[in-house]
Amino acid sequence: MSATPTRQLALQGAAVILVLSLAWPYFGWTAQAMPWLETSLAIGGVALLFATLSRQPWWWRLIHLTFMPLVWATNTLAIDPSWFLLAFVLLLLVYRGALSGQVPLYLSNKATVAELAKLLGERGPSRFLDLGAGLGSTTVPLADLLPDSHFTGYENAPLTWLVGRLLSLGRPNIRWRWDDLWQAPLGEFDVVYAFLSPVPMPALWQKAKAEMQPGSLFISNSFPVPGEVPSQVIEVDCTPPRPLYCYQI
Ligand SMILES: C[S@@+](CC[C@H](N)C(=O)[O-])C[C@H]1O[C@@H](n2cnc3c(N)ncnc32)[C@H](O)[C@@H]1O
Repeated sequence: MSATPTRQLALQGAAVILVLSLAWPYFGWTAQAMPWLETSLAIGGVALLFATLSRQPWWWRLIHLTFMPLVWATNTLAIDPSWFLLAFVLLLLVYRGALSGQVPLYLSNKATVAELAKLLGERGPSRFLDLGAGLGSTTVPLADLLPDSHFTGYENAPLTWLVGRLLSLGRPNIRWRWDDLWQAPLGEFDVVYAFLSPVPMPALWQKAKAEMQPGSLFISNSFPVPGEVPSQVIEVDCTPPRPLYCYQI
């Protein structure tokens, strides 16, 4: 079954009714509201039940079970609320992409970079673009390995961008932009690399097809373009598997 918003809303509604149907009898018997600990346990238990019924993976079930009891436990620590605000702002500065486009930050590994370097080396001097360039985990080492190629990174999370900017300093073959990847002129690049999430892939492929030049290469780390057969799949030697899906334009 697909996780449509309507289905999610229906599950939320059912969970609220179930928790209330536990809280009401409690109130009827004791003439007082259910204490917060019991309430958080009831919410955790109900969330676990629905996560199990909707066949979510074990780690999601664990999150559903423990989230509200942990909120209760944290509340008992009486931490100054400004710390939570600070943590929220810091997370926003790093994980902005997760909020606006369901693309969080995780980094390309060394094995992936080695495969990309091999592929770029075979193509000759290239103009390479990393869409959602993170901390520069691809652009920085590739710029060092391939000084005749030029590397551009688009990154829109402020703190992530800043770290990548500092790591790019002193490398004349890197252009590091604080910008939305959807604004990138893909036609200016020979190789466009994306390590994002399944969510943007259909729209990104439409953009790639509309803008990229014949003969250029679109590479997606881990997330294939739905319904498109890649011209090549490079199996990267790493765990978890991170195949590079290559699409010749
Ligand atoms: C999975 S990380 C990949 C980082 C890097 N490309 C790498 O391979 O190590 C995806 C990155 O895309 C960024 N991102 C998400 N949406 C974006 C957008 N609309 N414009 C620019 N960057 C975005 C996120 O902030 C995150 O840093």
